[in-house]
Parts: sequence; structure tokens; C-alpha cells
Amino acid sequence: TPRVFSGIQPSGNLTLGNYLGALKRFAEKQDEGVETIYCLVDLHAITVWQEPEALKRQTREAAAAFIASGVDPARSILFNQSQVSAHAEMAWLLNCVARIGWMYRMTQFKDKTQGKNAENSSLGLLAYPSLMAADILTYHATMVPVGEDQKQHLELTRDIAAKFNHDYGVDFFPAPEPLIEGTATRVMSLKDGSKKMSKSDPSDASRINLTDDADTIAKKFRKAVTDPAPLPESLEGLEGRAEARNLVNIYAALAGRTAADVIAEFGGQGWGVFKPALADLAVAKLEPISTEMARLMNDPAEIDRTLTQGAGKARAIAQPILEQALDIMGMVRG
Ligand code: TYM
Repeated sequence: TPRVFSGIQPSGNLTLGNYLGALKRFAEKQDEGVETIYCLVDLHAITVWQEPEALKRQTREAAAAFIASGVDPARSILFNQSQVSAHAEMAWLLNCVARIGWMYRMTQFKDKTQGKNAENSSLGLLAYPSLMAADILTYHATMVPVGEDQKQHLELTRDIAAKFNHDYGVDFFPAPEPLIEGTATRVMSLKDGSKKMSKSDPSDASRINLTDDADTIAKKFRKAVTDPAPLPESLEGLEGRAEARNLVNIYAALAGRTAADVIAEFGGQGWGVFKPALADLAVAKLEPISTEMARLMNDPAEIDRTLTQGAGKARAIAQPILEQALDIMGMVRG
């Protein structure tokens, strides 16, 4: 069976972007006859400073978000990266295959160091994509559901896999395919239609957090920045209207409908009609998730047990592949 692998950084509040671009689709993949492996990438999170107690809480909260979004630890492998040491070991091997120049070209690295002294960012931040390649390749995973922003990292993963195979004259790592599907592969900020909705945006009003209550969700959509014109009568009318397009896409993804469908229903209507409808839909979909997250967070020890069990299952797949990679590269194995 084909193997799906994906990950999320437990580096803060998860957003509606993470839900629509990743979590919701992770849950759907479980019904598609594939093996599903999902990882809380805590080693990636520490490429920028994380307060240790906060990181623990965020990791448990992200695990709760996975489960509350429908990822079933009995059907999927759900674990945190640092509990499976093969990730860090494979990352070192791939660090010696990948080129420094490839890392400097990553737009995420450029964005995260923009306006700062790049020389003073962590070495891990530069090597980040090589650890991500290790995450995927250590499972020989071929399908990687992600949002649009991870596309370049997936291309780099394919380059690293190909260079390893070429350098060692083997056909060892399969090339993983990014799965960037649906109407919400790039959910934008509610304050600026040219910026991605992000857990690290300083403005809380720019995003919907999975932990926001109904009133907060309604208020954030009501205050979302848009142009004044009503919704267009056809999809083409969304050209050049980034904010309007974003809200239509969010509605479509939440409702499990196409954007064309949403325009067919709301075309010609003003924001006074559409925004409350969107808020109601978002609350209906997200409130059960935040309620379930809160319930799960009452028992952190149970979450930890789930992650540790998942790590055991992950290790059973990852360790033999790591051993083979070490052997191919010439490490003596006793
Ligand atoms: P991260 O933690 O930034 O985001 C997790 C997932 O959510 C998607 N996403 C979005 N999708 C649509 N609209 C948005 N506004 C939005 N914001 C985030 C991301 O595309 C991603 O799918 N490098 C990865 C984590 C990672 C990983 C991996 C992913 C580490 N190892 C291996 C796949 C496979 C990251 O920082 O995602």
C-alpha cells in the first residue's frame, strides 16, 4: 500500500489554514486505502527559540488538534518526531548529500531571515529542509499532503533523494509526490489578502485559531478586510479580488463544495449577508473541534501515551530504512 507522510510544527496556535490545508485532509486520507503517518515535528520547531514548557504544551495541543480533526491513532501513526531518533540520524546523512546552496535558495529560509542578521539565525534553520526530507524519506513515503507553501521543500526532497540514488548508484529512495489539493491550499490572512494566514503573524485578528470561541470567530470574519463590492456573479469576477477570493475559498473548503458552487449561491450578495453565513459555517465546523481539543487536554498523560505508542510503530518502519541507508553509505554495522 502507498504510504502517506506529513507533519506540522507545534510552534504555536494551529490556524484555520493548518486545518483546511493539512489536518482535514490528513483525516480524509485515512479512508483512501493508504497507510497514513503523521508527525508533530518538534525538532523543526526548535530551529527558532521555543520556551521549553510552552513547546510541551503546544505539542500536546497539536496532538489534540489532530485527533479532534479526525486523525484516529488506531488507523494512523501519530507521534512526535523527537521520539524517533531515526529522523535526526537520517537528517545528518542527508546533510552530507544536500548542498548548502540548495538551502539558501529556500524561500521559507529567506522569509524567516528577512530583515534580520541571517548569520545569527540557527544552523538548524538553514538545514531545516534536509530534516524535512529525512522525515519523508525515512519511511519511503511517496505521498505528502501539504499546503502550497511547502511545495518548494518537497521539490528539494525529491532532489536530495535523486542525488543520494545517483551518488551511491542505487535505486533506494522513491521520489515523493506533494499532494496540494482542494480549494484551501493557501488560506490567506484576514487582514491582508497577499499574505498567508500564519500562526506566527503578530496580529491575532489576521487568523482564526482552532481554539477560538464562537464569538471570536464571528468577530474576526466580520472584521475581515474586503473590498466594498458585492460577491461577483461568476468565478472570473474574483480576478484581482484576493480578499474576496480567500473568503469564498474558505467557505467552499469548510462546506466541502466548489468555489463555483459558493458563487452560484451567494453571487450578487453583499458582505453583510456572506460574512455572517461564513461565520456560522466556520463555528459549526470548528466548535466541535475546539470542544474536543479542550476535553483531550484535560488528560495530557493520555496524549503522551498515544504519542509514545505512535512512536513505537513509526520506529518499526523507520529504523530498518535508516540501517539500509547507513549500509549503502559505507558505515560498518556490527
Ligand atoms: P507548518 O507547521 O508551517 O504547517 C503545517 C501544514 O499546514 C499547511 N498550512 C497551510 N495550508 C493552507 N493555508 C495556510 N495558510 C497554511 N498554513 C500552513 C502547511 O502547508 C503544512 O502542510 N515544514 C512543514 C512541516 C514539516 C513537514 C515534514 C510537512 C516537517 N516535516 C514532512 C510534510 C512532510 C511546516 O513548517 O509546516
